[in-house]
Amino acid sequence: MSASSDMLRFLACGSVDDGKSTLIGHLIHLTGNLPDDQLQVLEAESSRFGTTGGALDYSLLLDGLMAEREQGITIDVAYRYFETPRRKFIVADTPGHESYTRNMATGASHCSAALILVDACQGVLSQTRRHVLICALMGIRNLLFAVNKMDQADWDEARFRRIEQECHRMAGEAGLLAKSHGTLLAVPVSALQGDNLAVLSSRMSWYGGATVLEWLESIAADGAVADAPFRLPVQYVLKGSSGGRNCQQDGKRWPAGHDGRATWRSYAGSVVSGRVCAGDRVVILPSGVETTVERLLIGDREADSAEMGTAVSLVLAGEHDIVRGDCLAPPADRPEQAGLFKVRLVWMDQQPLYAGRRYLFRSVFGTIEAQISRIRDRVGLDAYQLLATDRLAQNDIGEVELSLARPFPFDPYSENRATGAFILIDRISNATVACGMIQHPLRRGSNVHWQREELTRELRAELKGQKPCAIWLTGLSGSGKSTLANYLEGMLHDMGRHTMLLDGDNVRHGLTRDLGFTDADRIENIRRVGEVAKLMTDAGLIVIIAFISPFRADRDMVRTLLPDGEFIEVHVSTPLEVCETRDPKGLYRKARKGEIPNFTGVNAPYEEPLRPELRLDTTSRSVKDCAADIMSLLRQDGFI
Ligand code: ADX
Repeated sequence: MSASSDMLRFLACGSVDDGKSTLIGHLIHLTGNLPDDQLQVLEAESSRFGTTGGALDYSLLLDGLMAEREQGITIDVAYRYFETPRRKFIVADTPGHESYTRNMATGASHCSAALILVDACQGVLSQTRRHVLICALMGIRNLLFAVNKMDQADWDEARFRRIEQECHRMAGEAGLLAKSHGTLLAVPVSALQGDNLAVLSSRMSWYGGATVLEWLESIAADGAVADAPFRLPVQYVLKGSSGGRNCQQDGKRWPAGHDGRATWRSYAGSVVSGRVCAGDRVVILPSGVETTVERLLIGDREADSAEMGTAVSLVLAGEHDIVRGDCLAPPADRPEQAGLFKVRLVWMDQQPLYAGRRYLFRSVFGTIEAQISRIRDRVGLDAYQLLATDRLAQNDIGEVELSLARPFPFDPYSENRATGAFILIDRISNATVACGMIQHPLRRGSNVHWQREELTRELRAELKGQKPCAIWLTGLSGSGKSTLANYLEGMLHDMGRHTMLLDGDNVRHGLTRDLGFTDADRIENIRRVGEVAKLMTDAGLIVIIAFISPFRADRDMVRTLLPDGEFIEVHVSTPLEVCETRDPKGLYRKARKGEIPNFTGVNAPYEEPLRPELRLDTTSRSVKDCAADIMSLLRQDGFI
């Protein structure tokens, strides 16, 4: 689908009861976009199920969507179409339930305008402030505040003006007024009765501005993506012999009767921004090789040019080594490449975000490993001020530093919404946990290169005559981790194994001296220790690690740092009551008296491993027996 000026994509934002569905449904009807048969169904359903006393209940138009929701089908964004003689519209409508932020962020990236519902009886809510902020961050510059339910608010001008003023202040704080080519309007409406939707209402003669429809028809459809330079992330490499007919994906069999000799290759993908013409010079990234577009195919058809949103395949002059994820762009206006960025995130996961955690980063150019290296700020909703923080909670919007496993192409989001946007995916649950916008690259890391390592970890281990691994003991304070770790190390040492012991209490005197016991500090503690454990296994050692390590996600993260099978998680599962009775350092007693905040098991959580390699309860078993269990596991897996 190509972008054109007579098409407007807009986002509808509102919470469950503020009349968003009614407003959209009513607009669709008023503009003559409701076919007769649907109208009849709506009339029948309105009198049966409607909440509008027999009048048409437009919110039922969105019923199909609701039915699907009841069946448990997840719908992020539903697109609705309608048109007037002046323009075509696509509304990105997002169901207004809890995970609203997620849906809204997904829907917003292609829209040039947003219609934000405000309930006249309730005024601006913090949810409204969040909607405005997300619109601003997503680059939506045209905002229409539909101040709804004026019928229930006695068509009161003073009330509307107060809300209008607040909307303007809010947009100013969000930086929307600073942008020269945006528009902002508040319209008093009754979505139910149709006032000021398509015709000015006689019941609010004090309002002389545009109606909702007039505004939608008149604003400029700014093409943050269409106006940006040409970008094509290569999705498939196709080989063919003639025309476009015999082309097919790499690696698949040639059709019967075909000699299989490739005479040309083409590179297929969607034009995510700008346009490309036959004859254009393009650069291939990351290789940097320049060439010319010889031919351009849209489906089976030869074309002269392709615009944003078009799936196309390009035949390039010369032979090139191009793979999926490479980018084609104009040589003089190419995307940048970087591995360290300052980004904005809309954090959507229930679990808060902490620095040090690893995720998958996915943009139009593909998927790559990423780590949040630092959380800088969270945006407060009161005045959109930046507040320093070390975590982002669900629905928080913040600024963080992000590093990727290797440099990746991108454009800043402010210049290109398609190539500047990304999502973060949890590596274990596969859930999308954030959507983000790249602000700018951070250069300071650019001179740090991986040294080529001549000696491999295998060679180092071979010299020691052993197979390295990390034996990770996790459990409550007092569960017996340190005692067990010491004993186990002694046994291994006596067998002539090269070992190292990392113990929470000791490491906290040096490497992690700067860290306390807040969630954020513990996560950083485990991140550092995990990295050290990895280095030590690279050195060929058998490493024993004894840390409370209360969070599952962090232990799982360390597991992914190591080659398969080398991370051995041992849950020292001695129950809290037993640990507390032992209380070797008197810490439980102090914690119970309220003298130690965040004490694991007392006033801080401990997340048990779900599938540890071993579970050992030291309540009624000797250290020797427990260590023997670990030894037999090591023997069974070939580590000793
Ligand atoms: S972890 O949670 O970050 O893995 P770690 O194993 O390094 O903790 O340190 C735990 C040790 O610190 C405990 O054995 C205990 O001696 C001491 N400690 C001091 N304060 C706390 C606390 N609030 N919670 C848990 N342990 C504490």
